[in-house]
Amino acid sequence: MRQPLSAVAAEELVRRHAVQGATLMSILHAIQDETGFVPPETVEPLARALSLSRAEVHGTITYYHHFRSEPPARVTVQLCRAEACRSMGTEALKDHIEGHTGCRFDSGHAEDTELESVYCLGQCALSPSMTINGEIHARMTPQKFDRLFSAAKDKTEVTA
Ligand code: FES
Repeated sequence: MRQPLSAVAAEELVRRHAVQGATLMSILHAIQDETGFVPPETVEPLARALSLSRAEVHGTITYYHHFRSEPPARVTVQLCRAEACRSMGTEALKDHIEGHTGCRFDSGHAEDTELESVYCLGQCALSPSMTINGEIHARMTPQKFDRLFSAAKDKTEVTA
């Protein structure tokens, strides 16, 4: 369970990114790049910094699928399921990934892994494409996925 950010920490996080000329979108991207998500505690300081209502800030965060309000899973896989990738076997790859991870696409965290469908990663000529923890991979095969997924799990292994 995530510990909420203190008001001071949320204020500080926003202050670091709400530089002159920054837009709400650019700040949200910067916060998510830094923390992996946009903590809900930042909504109020963001609204104050940009002279917006809390509803406007919250509405922007929830409108864009890209922004998370909770920390991501240890390993997040985004599989492109748009046209070009479909024609190159992405649906068979999806079935393989679900079988391999024991998780379902677009159903939230399970086993510390999250599988998300996305629709075009701009790598159509190199399909099928996906990202694993934000890193893009092209010309994917089941074998390549197994190797990369295992490496991502090892890399993010929590050591006590
Ligand atoms: S359709 Fe998959 S990357 Fe464009």
